[in-house]
Amino acid sequence: MQNMLVTGANRGLGLEFVRQLLSGEAHVFAGCRHPERAEELQKLTVEHPGELSVLRLDVTDESAIAAAVGNIQSQVDSLDLLINSAGVYPRGETTPCTVTAETLLYAFRLNSVAPLIVTQHCLNLLRKGRNPKIVNISSKMGSLWWKEKEGGGDYSYCSSKAALNMLTRTLALDLQKEGIIVVVVNPGWVQTDMGGETADLTPSQSVVGLLNVIRKLTMEQSGKFLTWEGKEHPW
Ligand SMILES: NC(=O)c1ccc[n+]([C@@H]2O[C@H](COP(=O)([O-])OP(=O)(O)OC[C@H]3O[C@@H](n4cnc5c(N)ncnc54)[C@H](OP(=O)(O)O)[C@@H]3O)[C@@H](O)[C@H]2O)c1
Repeated sequence: MQNMLVTGANRGLGLEFVRQLLSGEAHVFAGCRHPERAEELQKLTVEHPGELSVLRLDVTDESAIAAAVGNIQSQVDSLDLLINSAGVYPRGETTPCTVTAETLLYAFRLNSVAPLIVTQHCLNLLRKGRNPKIVNISSKMGSLWWKEKEGGGDYSYCSSKAALNMLTRTLALDLQKEGIIVVVVNPGWVQTDMGGETADLTPSQSVVGLLNVIRKLTMEQSGKFLTWEGKEHPW
């Protein structure tokens, strides 16, 4: 039985990860801010008895992270996969003066800092996992290569995902000796609340691709930025 934690699991890509990870072979811990409102997760809990635990988890609140990980520890001894999917994309930042310090800092808190703090709290469980992996969901918009090509704007989202990329790279170097694989992935442009209806991919297509990549990850790939199809992404 594999033990897995997904953040931002009540909708979008996080919810689709939970759906596809419920294989009968896994115990999935689904973190979300409001479990009582997470109807899709509640349905899945009924359909997969004993396989899914829904946890209250606001990833910007360290005491909530500690409580959620404590809850996981009370149920299992190890964690094999952590997927940091929770994220935010502040809109309307078309010129330098449309950016506010509050929005910029919130994007960093959620998109960059939270994945690292969640990881810190999960590390002891991951150390006991089988072939443990940490997957941080980034974006092409966090790539310096993409920014040069596409132009300005979207300060908060792009810079917070670029910071996530560096945090992931640093973490991968530090955790290599412990046998923990750490990668950052671009899920593609996906039809979620964030991606919108006209996006290229359904959540199902993106997550099928990403799980195919995640299942085959090797230590040689740790620290890489990968696409949902498993290709190396330019930084
Ligand atoms: N969709 C795309 O095209 C696309 C492309 C590239 C990268 N991504 C990345 O993929 C990840 C998932 O995006 P998505 O498309 O699924 O977005 P989404 O549909 O907007 O979902 C965002 C998720 O993050 C959760 N969240 C927000 N703030 C949170 C907090 N403080 N604590 C815990 N959870 C929180 C939301 O929960 P609530 O319901 O409580 O708000 C929701 O579950 C993000 O990191 C995003 O940047 C998406």
